[in-house]
Parts: sequence; structure tokens; C-alpha cells
Amino acid sequence: MAIINTVHLSHKQGSKYLLQDINWSVQDGEHWVIFGTNGCGKTTLLSTICGYRAFSAGSIELLGQPLNLDNAVTLRKELGFVSASYFDRCFKNESSFDIVLSAKFGGFGRRGNISDKDVRRVRQLLESFGIASKGDYPYTMLSQGQKQRVLLARALMAPPKLLILDEPLNGLDIYARDFFLNTLTEIADATDVTIIYVTHHTEEILPFFKKAMLLKNGKVFAQGDLETVFAEDTLSAYFDHQTNARWEGDHFYINIGEDLRMDKSIWA
Ligand SMILES: Nc1ncnc2c1ncn2[C@@H]1O[C@H](COP(=O)(O)OP(=O)(O)OP(=O)(O)O)[C@@H](O)[C@H]1O
Ligand SMILES: [Mg+2]
Repeated sequence: MAIINTVHLSHKQGSKYLLQDINWSVQDGEHWVIFGTNGCGKTTLLSTICGYRAFSAGSIELLGQPLNLDNAVTLRKELGFVSASYFDRCFKNESSFDIVLSAKFGGFGRRGNISDKDVRRVRQLLESFGIASKGDYPYTMLSQGQKQRVLLARALMAPPKLLILDEPLNGLDIYARDFFLNTLTEIADATDVTIIYVTHHTEEILPFFKKAMLLKNGKVFAQGDLETVFAEDTLSAYFDHQTNARWEGDHFYINIGEDLRMDKSIWA
């Protein structure tokens, strides 16, 4: 079954397409990496698929159902979405506790009954991410890494069928990075979750990721098996520069094979 299926998905803002003709199908249990330059549309695509942003053409099926204004909140209760770049615009004075709890209601606030079990789960998640003492803190008074830990905790509030992780290691210290990546590996091994992972750092691509998409200017540049999408010739065409790619054990590294730097006349 497709967990995500987009057909001719587009979003036009003024005269510019932020997303253009995205045809993408993610099968149940597949793990995907989404990769692309700043501003290519990764956060826009994922927040649109989660029903947080409007789109102007095409269709989205999420968890087997056509996504619309009526069911977005219900569907979101079954997925975890981490995106500092999206949620930093939404959360301001909400406490860490309420932000984690809000996942239960598929939105930004409390909308229904809260059980003792819910409270226990939020406290357990905050504790687990090392921010138990910050439960009452408003989002804006947290450090960058603490904000990120709150968003990760929020994504795990419900045992998710689908985890959509937009730069999930953003701002985390090395302890928190290892803690989260090891936990994610365990979740991938032990459950039937589907994981979508956006990163600029290819060394974060864990061995269980088998599929990848390259986005460019709001369009799919390449998608399919990870090793094909991350082939040197595809990446070199994507970046318009000779790009080197290499595996070291389970880790994958790429770099642009040219000496990129600012014109000296600007700073000299
Ligand atoms: N609300 C908006 N109105 C108009 N343009 C927007 C809006 N939100 C984002 N954009 C534009 O859409 C483009 C894609 O933004 P998006 O945040 O999806 O990029 P991204 O691929 O996630 O980049 P990054 O790697 O920097 O996180 C950018 O050019 C951005 O300026
Ligand atoms: Mg982004």
C-alpha cells in the first residue's frame, strides 16, 4: 500500500511554482532520503503532505486516504512530523509540555480530553530527551537544540506509522545526535514505520534508507533507488559541478570537486 502518493502535485505562489508536478509514491515500510539545495522546496513539500500548507493543483493521498481539509487533523495524529523550519513559525509561547501533547490532537494546541496516560507519556518523552526540567518553558525561551528535542519528542507522542523528519539533527549536540540516530535505527528495525528524512549531511544517511529523491527548483530531479540517485553523474548534473561521492563502510559522503569560495574582491 502507498503511505504517500502525490499525483501532479503543484503549488503556485504568485507567478512562481514552489512545487511543480510532483509524482511520488512511498510504499508502506520504505525509507526515503530527500536531498536538495537550500530553497528547492523540501520543507514546502513535506509540510504540504502533512496538510499544513495548501496546494494549488494535483492530489495527495496520505496513509491510504485522499488528503483534504476535513481529514488532515485526523491523519496527522498517526504521523510524526519534525521540522524546525516549519514549526518555528507556529510555536511561540506554548510550553514544551503542551507542544509535545499537541501531537495527540493533530495540530498546534490542546483540543480534547487529556488522560493520566497522556501526561505520563509526555513526561516520559521530555525526560528521555533530557528536557524534563523545561516542561513549563515557552518555546521561544529554549535553546536551539532544546527546541529540536521538543519537536523530536512531539513526533514520537503517538507510535507513528509515518515519521517525516526535516533536518531532525538541526542544532543537536553530539550526544543527542547519537541518541536520536540510534533510536531511529531501532524504530526502523523493530516496527513497520515508514521514514522520510531530509538532510544536507549525507553521513546521516543510515543503512536502512534504500530510496532517495533529489528536488531542484520545486521539481523532482531524480528519484528511485538510493545508490542510483546518489551516483556521481546524477549528482554532478544536479549541482552543475563535478561532484565526488564515496561510501566508507555504512556511511556515504559527497563533496563538490571544485574550489568553491567567495570572490576575494568582496572581502579583501
Ligand atoms: N509562505 C511562502 N510564501 C512564498 N514563498 C515561500 C513561502 N515559504 C517558502 N517559500 C519559498 O519557497 C522556496 C522553498 O522553500 P523551502 O523552505 O521549502 O526550501 P527547503 O528546500 O526546505 O530549503 P532549506 O534546505 O533551506 O531548508 C524558497 O524559495 C522559499 O523562499
Ligand atoms: Mg527546509
